[in-house]
Amino acid sequence: MASVNALALDLLFRTARTHNGWQDKPVDDALLMQAFDLAKMGATSANMQPMRIVFVKSEAAKEKLKPALDKSNIEKTMSAPVVAIIGMDIHFYNELPRFFPHADAKAWFKDLPEPALEVLALRNSSLQGGYFMLAARALGLDCGPMSGFNNKMVDELFFAGTTVKSNFICNVGYGDSSKLFSRSPRPEFNEFCRIE
Ligand SMILES: Cc1cc2nc3c(=O)[nH]c(=O)nc-3n(C[C@H](O)[C@H](O)[C@H](O)COP(=O)(O)O)c2cc1C
Repeated sequence: MASVNALALDLLFRTARTHNGWQDKPVDDALLMQAFDLAKMGATSANMQPMRIVFVKSEAAKEKLKPALDKSNIEKTMSAPVVAIIGMDIHFYNELPRFFPHADAKAWFKDLPEPALEVLALRNSSLQGGYFMLAARALGLDCGPMSGFNNKMVDELFFAGTTVKSNFICNVGYGDSSKLFSRSPRPEFNEFCRIE
């Protein structure tokens, strides 16, 4: 049974941090593409792949995003080389004939009420957003996920006229470790888990 080495575990989990400050170092588009190509391999219900990402990179796109950010998130977001808006297509079922071709999975979802579709899209795009962060970290990038923004405004600014809604946003770049808080505590296995 194969497993990754200690360096990979450090990079992905043990030394990976949520970054608040960024080095003045650009991120190649090729790396963002590689991160997506890894993240898309992660499991989703019926392979529904609801995640849609807008990579906000230009100054103009960042200025567009700025008014939707909570005050405390503005500085770190505007200084990040890239902001990934992790969106979710509530009508993900339209792609199921392509993504789940061995069954009529579209029929399982297409008549569900919107709130039920939104729960499914939120669950699966959140998983995919997590896969994306791990993929980015595996490629040597740092991440700074945030939910402190106005979702409705981001939807209007970036997803108008579509069935895509924003889930969370994630700064991406090369972190400035001098701007980190000290690591917050984590629970022990026995506190939060049990084996039955
Ligand atoms: C979904 C999500 C939303 C978050 N929202 C914010 C936010 O709006 N602003 C912020 O400064 N940090 C935000 N964080 C960062 C968390 O506080 C941080 O990931 C957590 O404290 C763990 O930090 P660590 O990865 O450095 O250990 C968010 C993290 C996640 C995963």
